[in-house]
Formats: sequence, structure tokens, C-alpha cells
Amino acid sequence: METFSHFVLFGATGDLAHSKIYPSLFELYRMDALPKDFAFLGMALEGLSEEEFRDQVRETLKQQTEDEEKREKFITQLSYAQVDFAEPESMERAVVSHSDKVDEEKFLFYFAIPPSAFEHVSRCVENFQDKYCDCQIRVVVEKPFGEDLESAKHLNNTLREFLYEEQIFRMDHYLGKETVQNILALRFGNSLFEPLLNNRFVEKIELDLIEEEGIGERAGYFDGTGIIKDVLQNHILQVLSLLMMEPPVQIKSNFIRDEKHKFLASLEDIDLDAVRLGQYGSDSEGTLNSYQEEGDVSEDSQTETFVSMKLGVKNMRWDGVPVYVRTGKRLDEKKTEIRITFHPSFQYFVNKEEQCNPEPNVLVIEIQPNEEVYYTVNAKFPGEGMCIQPVKLHFTYQESFNVPIQDAYTRLLKDAIEGDQTLFIRSDEIEAAWKYVKPILEAKERGELKPQIYTAGRTIEEVETELR
Ligand code: BG6
Repeated sequence: METFSHFVLFGATGDLAHSKIYPSLFELYRMDALPKDFAFLGMALEGLSEEEFRDQVRETLKQQTEDEEKREKFITQLSYAQVDFAEPESMERAVVSHSDKVDEEKFLFYFAIPPSAFEHVSRCVENFQDKYCDCQIRVVVEKPFGEDLESAKHLNNTLREFLYEEQIFRMDHYLGKETVQNILALRFGNSLFEPLLNNRFVEKIELDLIEEEGIGERAGYFDGTGIIKDVLQNHILQVLSLLMMEPPVQIKSNFIRDEKHKFLASLEDIDLDAVRLGQYGSDSEGTLNSYQEEGDVSEDSQTETFVSMKLGVKNMRWDGVPVYVRTGKRLDEKKTEIRITFHPSFQYFVNKEEQCNPEPNVLVIEIQPNEEVYYTVNAKFPGEGMCIQPVKLHFTYQESFNVPIQDAYTRLLKDAIEGDQTLFIRSDEIEAAWKYVKPILEAKERGELKPQIYTAGRTIEEVETELR
């Protein structure tokens, strides 16, 4: 794997750049994990001088570190150019003049831009490559990768005109989370679980990805997107792929992506009758904005901020096991959790006269905020008789490893700079995921699926009841 030191960011003044990319690059710098000859060029539409741009990044990083000396050293490595995305030449000129700053001609172009700017930016990179054909290029593309199946195919084709798949890094930050990667370790590194993860033993799987926050200032993006495209099509389907795919030939990039793709292609057609869409209203005290009251949300918006649905998988391993998925904004807490419930086997122990409450075994993988895994088993309650009750076999990252958990973006940026594609999505996976959600998007479009209002700040169970 080769390290690329030229980092060119399209969308350098955007939310994502400030909330994720600069903090992560700085973290890598602090860890001494950036290439020695790292050179950064940020590009965006805003007419900022280099100093003004650096001031903005400085403000962002002040919240992260008090080490002023380090921060300033990092900031002086950042350059900025104002460009017009509709004018490929302006971007090209900026990249060319910047390229004098390093000897190695290895460029990582990072697209933190909306899909509408994608075509222009791709053309700029393509022209740049044509003219400087000695250089090597990698492209990192942020989500959303396309807006539907057709546009995702179009984006893939646009990139394929001048890049090989090995040069394209499609981002999904969920794959950079330690606890998501641990799904593979848990499944394939333990003889205890893998033999049980199939329709003989598993009764159901549940995955919740819920948030306390509303959409904040992101209406410009979210109102035209909705949670199906924002979270379900990518984060949720990616996590399920890792959880339910077949064992890969090796724990390596393309072997894993082959299995993820096979899994996505095995998903059963969606039962639209089992899909519930919701949109947050105000909370019960009326203190929080409802979705429609958020700044820049269109009047009478029908954008969904909540979805619950049932998935099915048409393969030998999972046929008949329901997978329940729920995701939404403005609930009572932020949590991402998987629960795998096994068929019960405690019939010999049920004794109605005694206070016996055995429950089916459940394997819980909490991805956030508590990074933990536990397995509930039934154990005998001490004393006379034979009463069994569930207890937890438990592992947390904090207690077991006692090392800081790296932020997902930091990990993914490092992998992209070093050229490891394992945690990035391949074109066939992206297209299979869009194909899967297509019927829901079409039903929404036809007005057959509409969100109902739910009260903000409620638990997921309460919201589900409201939407029934
Ligand atoms: C992003 C979505 O990709 O993921 C956001 O655009 C969502 O709407 C976020 O809030 C959730 O990520 P995390 O890591 O905070 O669970």
C-alpha cells in the first residue's frame, strides 16, 4: 500500500470539513501519523484569503486542543483556493500551482460536496490527470453517493471513465467505528457465536439507530434527503451486511466486500405495508421546534425523520428470520444497538409457582454510546428449588482495553491516505443498497407512504406506538 501526501479537499468551508475532516487530520498530525511531506489544499466557493481560511480552521481546532504550538504548526501547512465548481479550469490551476509544494506526485482528492457538484469536480480531477499523467490519484467520496439508483450508477460511471475501482474510496463513517469493526471479530473470532448465527437458532434481529438531536442547521441537505437516504441506505445496510454476511475468504478488503455485496443482493423485496414513516413534531411541553418549524424546511414538508421496517433475507442462512430496523431523529436518547434474540430453550425450568423469569438468550452489540457487547444467559437463582433468571456476560471496550477509542473519521482518513479500501464501499454494494430502498422511495414519491407526526423526546417504543 502506498501513502499519498497531497490532500486536496473540495468543499473546504463546509460543515463536514469543520466538524470531521479538520479535527481528524489534526488528530493524525498529533499522533505523527500524517506523511512527512503532507501538503493540504482546501477549495471552496467562498472568497477567503489564506489567512481567513486558516482563522476558520483555527476556531474549529481551538475546541479540540489547547496545544497552541502544535495547532499553529498544523495550520501553517494548510492552503486555500477559491474556485468555481462549474469552471474546472479554476480548480485545475489551483491544484497545479499547489502541486509544486511536494515532490511526490500522489494526490488524494476528497469530495466533501453535494451530489450536484460531483460531475464538475470529477471532470476537474480527470483533466488534471490527463495533463499530468505521471501523477497517481485517489478519490474519497462522501455520502450521499447519489440520490437514487440511477444517479448512483451515473456517478459510478463518471468515476470509472478515468479511475479504477482501486482508486475510489466511498465513505461511510459507520465502517470506521471500532464497535462496527468488532462485529467481524466477534463473529469470526469466536467459536461460541458463529455456529449459532443462522435461522436454526436466531428468532429475530433488531437494529436501532436513534438520535436525540433534530436536524439542526442541516435543512438545506436533509429536507431534500430524508432519513431513508441519509441513514438507512448506507449506515444501517452496511452494519447489517457485516453482521449477516457469509464468512469472507480472508479478512481483507475485496473478500469482505464480495460477501457484503452478496448479502445486499439477497435482501427480500421490501414489504411496504410494514414500513412506518414519521416526522418529528414538537415535544410534549412545546419547547422544541417541530421538524416543519426548523429553519429552511419547506412548508408542509413530507420529509421523513423516522422509519421503522422489517427486512428479510433470502438465503439459506437467514431465510425466515425477521430483521427489525428503526431509525429516527429527536427521540429521547442517542443510541445505536443491535439485538440478536435466540430461540428459547428453557421450557424445563419454567415453574409458574416460583418467581422464575427466564428469558431467551440475547446477544447485544451496543455500537454507541456505550461501546459494549453482552450476552444474556439464564442462571440459577441461589437457594432452594430451580429458578432461572437472565444474567449478563459482559464486555466493554473501556474496561477490557483501557485505550482511547479512535474516532471513525480519523481511522478512515488514515486508511484512505495509506490506500486500504477495507472500510470503504465498493460500487456494486452502493448500487445494491440503492436498488433495495428504491421501492420505498418510489412509494413516497407516489404519495403512498407519508410520514405521520410523532412527539419529540419520546422513547422509541412510544414513537412506534404513536405511529401505529
Ligand atoms: C450522518 C447523517 O451520516 O450520520 C446524520 O448524515 C446522522 O444525519 C449521523 O446524524 C449519525 O452518525 P453518528 O456517528 O453520530 O451516529
